Amino acid sequence: MMRKQIAAANWKMNLSLEQAEALADQLIAGNMTLSADQQVLLAVPFPYLLPIKNKISLQSNVFVAAQNCAATKNGAYTGEVSAEMLKGMDIAYVIIGHSERREYYHEDNKILADKVNLALEYGIKPVFCCGEPLSIREAGTQNSYVELQLKESLFHLEKEQLRNFIIAYEPIWAIGTGKTASSDQAQDMHAHIRSVIASYAGQEIADSVSILYGGSVKAANAAEIFGKKDVDGGLVGGASLIATEYNTIINSLKRS
Ligand code: 13P
Repeated sequence: MMRKQIAAANWKMNLSLEQAEALADQLIAGNMTLSADQQVLLAVPFPYLLPIKNKISLQSNVFVAAQNCAATKNGAYTGEVSAEMLKGMDIAYVIIGHSERREYYHEDNKILADKVNLALEYGIKPVFCCGEPLSIREAGTQNSYVELQLKESLFHLEKEQLRNFIIAYEPIWAIGTGKTASSDQAQDMHAHIRSVIASYAGQEIADSVSILYGGSVKAANAAEIFGKKDVDGGLVGGASLIATEYNTIINSLKRS
C-alpha cells in the first residue's frame, strides 16, 4: 500500500475556543472526503484537544494532534503536558521539534530525542519537524544540517520504530513569510530525507514514512507541491485557520 498522504493543520497559539469549534464545524461542512490512504490531522492548542476531538469523532481518517509534549515523564514540571496524559486522552499524534519550539523554547536535538522516546513509549506517533534557517540555505549546507537533526533525535531508535513517524520538512525561511520553497526545492530535500532514513533503516521502511512539507502552503500552491514524488502532504499554519483554504489543501492531496 502507498504511504499515507496527510494534510496536517498546525493552529499554533491561535483562535478562541468558540472560533476553534466554528472552524472545525466549517471544515466538516466543507466535506473532508478522504480515501483510505489519506489523513487529516488537526494540531490544536492543548485545551482544545478534547472539544475538537469530540467535534470530529464521526469523521473517518481525521485526527487531532498535540503541538508538543514534555521531555520528562511526570512530576514537578509546572505547566508541562506529558505524553502519558495525551495517551490517556486518546491523542494519537504529537508534533515534536517544531522550529518555533527549537527557537523560542531552546529545544535542542537531545531534548527532542527525549520527547520522541516518551511519545513512542506511550504509543503516540510523532510528527517530527526538521528544517534549516535562511543562513544555512544561503550557505548551501541544508542537506547536512537536516541530516544531523534527524540523526541526533531519531537514530538511536530501533529501525522498525521509524515506521511510526511522520516527518515534516519546514524550512524556517518559508514559515509564515509567504515565501514558499519551490516544489523542486521541496522535492530535493524530501528525497534527501528519505535517503537518510533509508541509509539507517533500509529502503522499505524509508518508503513507508510520510514526509510533509511545511512553510507557506496555501490553497493556491498545495497541488503543485503535493504533486512531487516524495512530498506526501503538508504541515500548514496560517492557511489552516481558514476553512475554505484548508478544504482546498485537503483536496490537493495525491490519490492512489
Ligand atoms: P505557515 O503555513 O503559516 O507558513 O506555517 C508553517 C508551519 O510552521 C506549520 O507548522
